[in-house]
Amino acid sequence: MVWWFLVIYLFGIIIQSSEQACSTGYYTYEGQCYPCSPGHYCSDGIDEYVCLAGEYSDGWTQSYCSTCASGYYSSYAGSDHCNKCPIGFSCPRRDQEPVPCNPGQYAPNEGYASCSACSQGYYSANSSATECLPCPRGYYCPTTDMLPIMCPPGTYQLSTSSTSCSKCYDGQFTVENGSVSCNVCPGGFYCPTADQLPIACPIGTYSTEGQTVCTKCSSGQYNTFLNSTRCYQCPPGHYCDDPKICPKPCPAGTYNSSPGYSSCYNTCGTCPFITRLFDCNSCTQAKISNCTEGQTVPRFVCSWN
Ligand SMILES: *[C@@H]1O[C@H](CO)[C@@H](O)[C@H](O)[C@H]1NC(C)=O
Ligand SMILES: *[C@@H]1O[C@H](CO)[C@@H](O)[C@H](O)[C@H]1NC(C)=O
Ligand SMILES: *[C@@H]1O[C@H](CO)[C@@H](O)[C@H](O)[C@H]1NC(C)=O
Ligand SMILES: *[C@@H]1O[C@H](CO)[C@@H](O)[C@H](O)[C@H]1NC(C)=O
Repeated sequence: MVWWFLVIYLFGIIIQSSEQACSTGYYTYEGQCYPCSPGHYCSDGIDEYVCLAGEYSDGWTQSYCSTCASGYYSSYAGSDHCNKCPIGFSCPRRDQEPVPCNPGQYAPNEGYASCSACSQGYYSANSSATECLPCPRGYYCPTTDMLPIMCPPGTYQLSTSSTSCSKCYDGQFTVENGSVSCNVCPGGFYCPTADQLPIACPIGTYSTEGQTVCTKCSSGQYNTFLNSTRCYQCPPGHYCDDPKICPKPCPAGTYNSSPGYSSCYNTCGTCPFITRLFDCNSCTQAKISNCTEGQTVPRFVCSWN
C-alpha cells in the first residue's frame, strides 16, 4: 500500500511541473506565468531567483544574471544594474563597496578596478586621490605617499618631480629651507659649510668669490681689513713680516728699493763710499738730505760733495 502511494505521489509531481512550468524568463505562481523582474533571474520557469551581489539583470524576463564588468560593482543582491566605480576609488571586488585609493595611489577616472601608483617624484598624500602631484621645485619626495619635504639648508632642487635634493657645490651656500639654487660665496668671505652664512676673511687673508677657505697673504704682502678680496704689496722702504700688520719702515741703516719685501735687506754704507743710493731710508746718508724713516729718497741725493 505504502509503495503504491509513493509511486503515485511522485508521478503526480512530475506531471504537474511538466504541465505547469513556464518558459525560462518567467516564473510560475498559482498556475500563472509571470515575467521575471529586473534584479532576478528565472532559469527554470518555476521560481524567480535573486541576482547575487556582484551580478545584475537589467530587464524583465531574464533567465540568468550577468557579472558586473571590471570597474563596476553591485554591493546588494537583486541589483538591476552595476555602479561604475567612482573617481578616486577602486573596486577590486564587484560585490563590495568601492575602496578609496590609498595615499601614494590615484584613480583619475571612474571605473577603476584598482588604483594606479604614483610615479617616482610624484605624490598623493591623501586617500581618494584623483591625481598625483609633481614634487615642487625646492622640495623632494622620497616616498609617493607623503607631502613633499623642503630641501634643507646646504641643499637645493631646481627641478620638479625629484626624490632627493642636491648638495651645494663647494664654495656655495644656502641657509634656507626649500632652496631652488645655492648662492656663490662672495669675495672676501669663505664658506666652509654650505648650510651656514659666509664668514669674513680674517685680517692678513683674502678670497675671491666661491671659496671654502681664505688664502693667507704671501710673503711681503699685507692687508689690515676684514673681508678683503686682495692683499697689498709692501711699499718700498718698508718691510712686511706679518701680513696682519701695516708695513713697517725699514730701520735706520737699511732700505728696500722695491715693493713686496718681508725684510729690509740692503744696508746703507757710509756716504763717502756710496756713489748710487737707491731709495735709501733712514741711512746716515739719507738723513743728510732729511729723509725720514720709511721714506724713499731719489737717486744720487747723496753725492761725494
Ligand atoms: C589633504 O587632506 C588635508 C587634511 O584633510 C587637506 O587640508 C588637504 O587640502 C588635502 N589635500 C588634497 C590635495 O586634497
Ligand atoms: C628648516 O626646517 C626645519 C625643520 O622644519 C626647521 O627646524 C628650521 O628652523 C628651518 N630653517 C629655516 C632657516 O627656516
Ligand atoms: C666688509 O668690508 C667692508 C669694507 O671694509 C665693510 O664696510 C663691511 O662692513 C665689511 N663687512 C663685513 C661683514 O665685515
Ligand atoms: C735738513 O733739515 C734741516 C732742518 O729742517 C735744515 O736746516 C737743513 O738744511 C736740511 N738739510 C738738507 C741737506 O736739506
